[in-house]
Amino acid sequence: MEINEELIFEQTTKLLNIADNDVVNDPLQIAEELRSIINYLDWKYYVKSETLVQDYDYDRLYKLLRKIEEENPDLITEDSPTRRVARGLSTSFPTVRHMKPMLSLDNSYNYTDLKDFDLRVKKLSGQETVEYCVEPKFDGSSIALVYENNMLVRAATRGDGNQGDDITNNAKTIRSIPLSADFLRLGIARVELRGEVVISQNFFHKMNKEREGLGLPAFQNARNTASGGLRMKDSKEVAKRGLEAFIYQIGIAEDDNGEDKTLELISQSKSIDLLHDLGFKTTKQGFSVFNAMEDVLSYCHAWESKREGYPYEIDGMVVKANRFETQEQVGYTSHHPRWAIAFKFKAKQARSKLERIEYQVGRTGAITPVAKITPVSLAGVTISSVSLHNEDFIKDKELHLNDIIIVERAGDVIPYIVGPVIEERTNDAVEIKFPEECPSCSSPLVKEKEEVAWRCVNIDCPAQTEERLIHFVSKGAMNIDGLGKDIIRRFYKEEIIKHIPDLYRLNYDQILQLEGWKQKSVENLRSGIEKSKENETWRLLVGLGIRHVGSTTAKMLSKHVRNIKEFSKWDIEALTALEDIGPIVAESLYDFFRNDSNLKLLDELEELGVNMERKETMNVGNLLQGKSFLFTGSMQKLTRDRAKELVEQNGGKILSSVSKNLNFLVVGEKAGSKLTKAQGIETIEIIDEDSFLKMIGE
Ligand code: IVH
Repeated sequence: MEINEELIFEQTTKLLNIADNDVVNDPLQIAEELRSIINYLDWKYYVKSETLVQDYDYDRLYKLLRKIEEENPDLITEDSPTRRVARGLSTSFPTVRHMKPMLSLDNSYNYTDLKDFDLRVKKLSGQETVEYCVEPKFDGSSIALVYENNMLVRAATRGDGNQGDDITNNAKTIRSIPLSADFLRLGIARVELRGEVVISQNFFHKMNKEREGLGLPAFQNARNTASGGLRMKDSKEVAKRGLEAFIYQIGIAEDDNGEDKTLELISQSKSIDLLHDLGFKTTKQGFSVFNAMEDVLSYCHAWESKREGYPYEIDGMVVKANRFETQEQVGYTSHHPRWAIAFKFKAKQARSKLERIEYQVGRTGAITPVAKITPVSLAGVTISSVSLHNEDFIKDKELHLNDIIIVERAGDVIPYIVGPVIEERTNDAVEIKFPEECPSCSSPLVKEKEEVAWRCVNIDCPAQTEERLIHFVSKGAMNIDGLGKDIIRRFYKEEIIKHIPDLYRLNYDQILQLEGWKQKSVENLRSGIEKSKENETWRLLVGLGIRHVGSTTAKMLSKHVRNIKEFSKWDIEALTALEDIGPIVAESLYDFFRNDSNLKLLDELEELGVNMERKETMNVGNLLQGKSFLFTGSMQKLTRDRAKELVEQNGGKILSSVSKNLNFLVVGEKAGSKLTKAQGIETIEIIDEDSFLKMIGE
């Protein structure tokens, strides 16, 4: 890839002159030069992390290329850098089959595991010495790239290993992925590469700072942000996520007769060198080749110790038999290659001190002990609270107040207390006594047989009431806009709201007088609350906080009655007969709907205007009036019959084929010829299942 940089500067200066004078005599020649310069600058910047020209100059070159291509569309090539720009929204990501399954890796944690692996490889290959290539294991989201005749033709996520989502357009926005690469010079006509899409630590923190400034919630970790980024519908947004792709493997390489070419590439280390030379960002900087497992282990440890300062998240190393011939001899299980193993780094840990324990009361009365620890930074996040789950957890770990403790981030998100450092326990250590009374209402706590949690069973317990209110208004339940957790806590404390029905009796003039409230926020609150009265009944069922009733069960339940109060007449048998309802859920529903105060609450809410009736009857009408629909591909949430029913109930029409009369084509997975045909008719709007459901307010 490296070219004489003198020449690059000379050519860049010439092209910038052309951009300034705006006279292009030979568009074909200039477009070609611009493309190769921009591709080179991209490679330098995104693969080698070197800046050769100022952003301003880069933009001028780019704009000139775009202008020439706009004026001469026949000059556009598929690998032009202008093709990286998003072209509209992706309505769905079709499922595609990988050329070869994307397997997982077996794990190892210590020298013994590595030795065993080495012995197995030697036995299966019949060799006495085996070369191993050891490289960093990036913690991101896997990707498979297919190049045909040098062109990137497909990018897919790992999915279930056999098939993944086609995310080609999104992958094209990742500048470290070349849109074309010269595999043909090696006689390779088709190749499938594997790699990991990551976000650098720096970029991740920068992005979170910006989000904080905009009042948006911070992203939890780089891995999930990368994997979410690959699946975003708007490729313009993908481009803002700072995604980078490290390619670590050639999965398949074939010549134009479909003959396998991998063996000719000799080894993992040679193929990484090759990919690097072809312009890919690879593990070249990180790999090394060894024969002895002791050396493999020290290399892994050396990486483990520099892990914190490394710009990308790595969670271990991958040890691979280097020669492809050996790999072939050693083979695969259905889950992982036998010729490779991951050496996992220890979970990230930190020391801190257990200062005190707070006992939180949940909406069902369950008491959760939460450790308040001296704030400590762990993998980029400051941790001061860690859940201790229940009394047994504290006993099993033999935790004492004032203990020095080890905190770990399991799955790198949720902090976890590994245990106390017993050797460092001092006389300050105080045994932890689980409270016998509710910290909120002082009722005695009880523990049911077979349960681990202590509970406060006082239905009027203020802490529970507050949590129930928070749950009632939350997104997954009544979804009341303008009314978050903090506002509920404040209103509860100031006795503006004592019980759920008070939400519908708010005195908005009084709220306007409160500090921090303005006309606009009060209006938002009022409209959020008013809107919630019209919610479908499943939201209310979730909001009531009936134990074991989440949104799936609530949606199912709401279909079986016209008014949810009818459940007060159902017996256990009738409830158990419903789909997916077992004896525990049935009993919980039965208890809820036979309790007088709960029924009183429902009456009160109904009187205040909260909807208790099944929506369909109210909503049949005109949402889709005069619009025609056709469904193609397989849907995730709807059956064909249900989809048809919904269209008709909302006043729309179903068509049986794609024609100019069609307004909407709803595409599911593996959509075929109907989609292709519809793409040729401009007036047809192509949408996915979720957008369709949104149209009808589902
Ligand atoms: S080799 C068949 N090498 O780790 C070969 N994987 O469970 C299998 N990963 O999701 C993968 N860095 O995407 C390999 N240098 C590396 C890797 C790597 C990250 C990921 C991979 C997969 C997981 C393996």
